[in-house]
Amino acid sequence: MDSIVCLRLKFATALFLLTGSLFFFCPVADAADPALDLFEQRIMPIFKSPKPSSCVQCHLASVDLKDYILPSHEQTFIALRDEGLIDIDNPDQSKILKLIEMGTKDPDKHAKLIHRRTRDAELAAFAAWIKACSADEQLRAMSATSGVAARVGPTTTDRVIRHTRKDRLVDSFERNVWSQRMRCFPCHTPNELDPSKPMHAKPIQRHRELVEKFGKRMDIFRETPAESMKALINSSRRHSDDHLPLINIDSPAESLLVLKPTNKLPKKKSDGTFEPPSYKLPVSHMGGLKMHKDDHSYKSFLAWIEDYARTVREEYTSDDQLPLDNWLATDIVLRLTNVPEQLENLTPLQLFVYRAADKRDTWQTEPIAFTQGLVTPRKIVNGSLFLLTQPNGSGNKEPKLAPGRYLIKVYADKTGRLKNDPTAMLPEDDYLGELELQARWRHGFKQAEIHSATQLK
Ligand code: HEC
Ligand code: HEC
Repeated sequence: MDSIVCLRLKFATALFLLTGSLFFFCPVADAADPALDLFEQRIMPIFKSPKPSSCVQCHLASVDLKDYILPSHEQTFIALRDEGLIDIDNPDQSKILKLIEMGTKDPDKHAKLIHRRTRDAELAAFAAWIKACSADEQLRAMSATSGVAARVGPTTTDRVIRHTRKDRLVDSFERNVWSQRMRCFPCHTPNELDPSKPMHAKPIQRHRELVEKFGKRMDIFRETPAESMKALINSSRRHSDDHLPLINIDSPAESLLVLKPTNKLPKKKSDGTFEPPSYKLPVSHMGGLKMHKDDHSYKSFLAWIEDYARTVREEYTSDDQLPLDNWLATDIVLRLTNVPEQLENLTPLQLFVYRAADKRDTWQTEPIAFTQGLVTPRKIVNGSLFLLTQPNGSGNKEPKLAPGRYLIKVYADKTGRLKNDPTAMLPEDDYLGELELQARWRHGFKQAEIHSATQLK
């Protein structure tokens, strides 16, 4: 081999000296080691590019095509081959090509189009390079000898990869944010307005007037959860000093998506009209107060925003950092009346629902449902229940609350813990008591499940 390389170099040098130009040198080298040239001319630019690879179309973090490239041409080949990502006998069938081709299967046509050029370039580069490598007898025969074998591919776990996928975030958005959209009816929910319903005539007119006045940004909830999420994320990329983002990745609680509905109307001017609404702290909302800070919707909105922020900030590196993300919204309302007088108004309460265990007179160890609400001046707490499904949405998507005997454990945020950590579950210190009940779990606010806190033990 040495002599061939030597000859090749001598020949090239001779040509180079003869012509005094690099022009001839390149084609000679090309013909000599196509795999290396393809690597340097087409794979390396992908590795060095500051832009994310096409994988970002579906993987918001944890996975990047750059992770499959090592600085050395030979090491990259050996590592990909030994990980089963290159099939040297059927180069076109190599798994790494299939991963790049995933992008063509996205049901989101728009995303598919946006990433098409990057994906096509990646695919052509890898296909050509793999083909050249597979035709190179020397490379094929090479083994990962010297010391530690270099590894390629993602460095996180499969669960983290799954958690940081866009489709998982859409699913979570649907359960945590989309499910609460009727609280924003009719102003931000154009697709819930039905012209065939006489009841909707007024709301339709109201919505139309608001869009005329404030523009299309009124339409926060689009046709599908995926489209709504995408629009929110896209509009949040615009930053300015006098306008907080709808979703604030650096400071989730300072997202307009939660600040607007938890704040009141702007002040009135002397002529009785409103001042313009504010988009920075303190925020004001032309829709008025539509959600209380620390009520159940606020909690689920914020849990989703935090999870999204931590995903794109690439903060998840191991399984134990992942949130459960297992809330499924229902329209079952749990109401506690006569809460103890010493609990101040607006104290957040968390209510956990436990099912009876198979053994008599015991309860299951994990709660099946949960809600959070604030103590009202009439000493009532209301909250719509979230069912706690199997972790990370796997299977069991429609768990049911059958009528029967249940235990409710009540926790009160007496020390303002949720102020600093709004998505937290309250610890044993905040335990207030529990009550057993026979529940019917009917649907809607009018048929709320009502129990008195005087029975708390
Ligand atoms: C169209 C969306 C989409 C694109 C684009 C995409 N993936 Fe995936 N990826 C998925 C889905 C969905 C899964 C889960 C597949 C499954 O479980 O069968 C997945 C799984 C994975 C996994 C987990 C392990 C495995 O082999 O199943 C890895 C690693 C991965 N993708 C890497 C990549 C890389 C690298 C890219 C870019 C070159 C990429 N993906 C582009 C949707 C995509
Ligand atoms: C009665 C009508 C009404 C309801 C109900 C309402 N809003 Fe609004 N909202 C408005 C109006 C009008 C504006 C535009 C003026 C402003 O920014 O305050 C607005 C603006 C917003 C904005 C800023 C949008 C942007 O891109 O600038 C957000 C975010 C928002 N609302 C969230 C909500 C959420 C979430 C809910 C439900 C929990 C809700 N609103 C309920 C009327 C409403």
